Amino acid sequence: MEIQRIIKKNILRQEAYPIEKIGSRVKLDANENPYTLPPPLKEKMFKYLEAISLNRYPDPRSSELRARLADYLRVHDDMLLIGNGSDELIQMLLVAFNSLPSGAVIIPVPTFAMYKIIALNTGHKIIEIPLNDQFHLNEELMLDTISQNNPSLVFFSYPNNPTGNLFNRETIEKILEQSNCLVVIDEAYFNFSGETFLPNLDKWENLIILRTLSKVGLAAMRLGILIAQPSIIHELNKVRLPYNINAISQAAGLFFLENKEEFLKQTRRVITGRDNLLRELEGIEKIHPYPSDANFILFSCANDKNKLYNSLLEKGILIKNFTSSGILKDFMRVTVGSDGETREFLAALRDIIRM
Ligand SMILES: Cc1ncc(COP(=O)(O)O)c(C=O)c1O
Repeated sequence: MEIQRIIKKNILRQEAYPIEKIGSRVKLDANENPYTLPPPLKEKMFKYLEAISLNRYPDPRSSELRARLADYLRVHDDMLLIGNGSDELIQMLLVAFNSLPSGAVIIPVPTFAMYKIIALNTGHKIIEIPLNDQFHLNEELMLDTISQNNPSLVFFSYPNNPTGNLFNRETIEKILEQSNCLVVIDEAYFNFSGETFLPNLDKWENLIILRTLSKVGLAAMRLGILIAQPSIIHELNKVRLPYNINAISQAAGLFFLENKEEFLKQTRRVITGRDNLLRELEGIEKIHPYPSDANFILFSCANDKNKLYNSLLEKGILIKNFTSSGILKDFMRVTVGSDGETREFLAALRDIIRM
């Protein structure tokens, strides 16, 4: 059977998301928290998980987790939706919204790859708007494109992955104010930037905020959070699969909220590590890093960057190399690791550059 004949055209044209499983000693490619839980806390977490009835389906609405998260975020629990990572929430948004004939999804680029991948999978028309050479929004172009194209959704990664910067807040506010579309502010790196649109939820009913626990130490648990007006949550719940958050992840989310100081201590270490890493990278000849409000740093290299990437890998250090021919072709991204990992990365980088 020729399955190409029956597969949707937009899927046929896609490639599977290229997450490489590359063995490495020092893993600095995926913007994860480098620290594991201290042993007493790990012990406490296992106790927590022991109480789960594995023979039962999990709470289909993650009610307790939503209630506790609502307290933590100071919103009503009917303004929250939990996803299997924020990836799933992006998917729910793109499944639920936009059936207008002229509708489109607007994405400033470069940015987080999943907006485009999921938008293509779900059959959307996509309009990509290039950032300027300092990776900021081109306000006039954004506003004009939005007013001419009647989009249903605009995505902003805030701070932006992979460039690391926060876009101009006034520009985003103008878009929220002037446009008739849903504006998604993806605050995956909020714990490193401290900047949020959360207090503005009452002001703009077209504002949707995404958060995740992946960057603060629970990437394995896949817990994303969407915060928006109850009317939006109501519609999104129609496309959410009934048991999308498994019982272990729900318990891990509650565990995070009860022990958040321990997790946030690690986040503060990462912020200090990021600022040190930037200073060190700025001092290395041929490396041009960009300041970051997230837990990673984007940089370009005057040498052959593919050779640099491979030489780092030979030394057991994995970073993110952008291999497509687009705007990022000269760039690489390194996640802020533990102090020891950063030292090892910098020493290897200096060695390779000197060679
Ligand atoms: C901007 C942004 N949003 C969302 C995600 C995905 O988060 P999750 O692990 O919750 O699916 C990432 C992951 O790197 C990201 O960079």
